[in-house]
Amino acid sequence: MSSSRVHHFKLVLLGDTAVGKSCLVVRFVRDEFFEFQEPTIGAAFLTQTVQLDESTVKFEIWDTAGQERYRSLAPMYYRGAAAAIIVYDITNPDSFTGAKSWVKELQRRGDPNVVIALAGNKADLESRRKVEFEEAQSYAEENGILHLETSAKNANNVKALFVELAKKLPKNAPQPEREAFPLAAPQNDNRNCC
Ligand code: GTP
Ligand code: MG
Repeated sequence: MSSSRVHHFKLVLLGDTAVGKSCLVVRFVRDEFFEFQEPTIGAAFLTQTVQLDESTVKFEIWDTAGQERYRSLAPMYYRGAAAAIIVYDITNPDSFTGAKSWVKELQRRGDPNVVIALAGNKADLESRRKVEFEEAQSYAEENGILHLETSAKNANNVKALFVELAKKLPKNAPQPEREAFPLAAPQNDNRNCC
């Protein structure tokens, strides 16, 4: 019976500008990639489901804008989020520093049970790597969070990232529908907004 149950979870993506948050979401939701993805303005909302052995997880995804001018909007999107993907770019050490400060902020001000995944994106750019896998992995282990390296460009580990998160989310806690929509949001699936 539980296999037909659909569990809704609010998921937020956070991280510096240009690390590839929107590209990861677009790869996951539509299996597309754009070399010239526009910076996000405000935030974008999309949904996608993940089929697990025992259940179906429907992610209600807030893809936030990483540009500094949108920084103060972030709490509106991470408030009430059951899951968060914090993204850095493996070729940009500052973005890893930024990711660590997002982890701290979520641990202090996010939902106490929020499940966090750290994604080292642009893993296809190995020759330009500046953040070692081991460094990020030990940081993630110390903080009890998931860590994967991904490439939105070649799709490596993108589905796995969302599936691993989906697996870690509690399937028996009630999920109030309103928590998925902190702002006025479109009701249609797979649509950008804001
Ligand atoms: P903001 O919306 O400003 O916060 O940026 P963002 O984190 O959403 O970054 P976005 O997805 O717009 O990607 C920025 C640029 O990085 C795009 O032009 C992409 O083509 C490029 N990019 C994203 N992911 C990858 C990847 O996995 N590999 C490579 N090589 N480039 C990537
Ligand atoms: Mg974006």
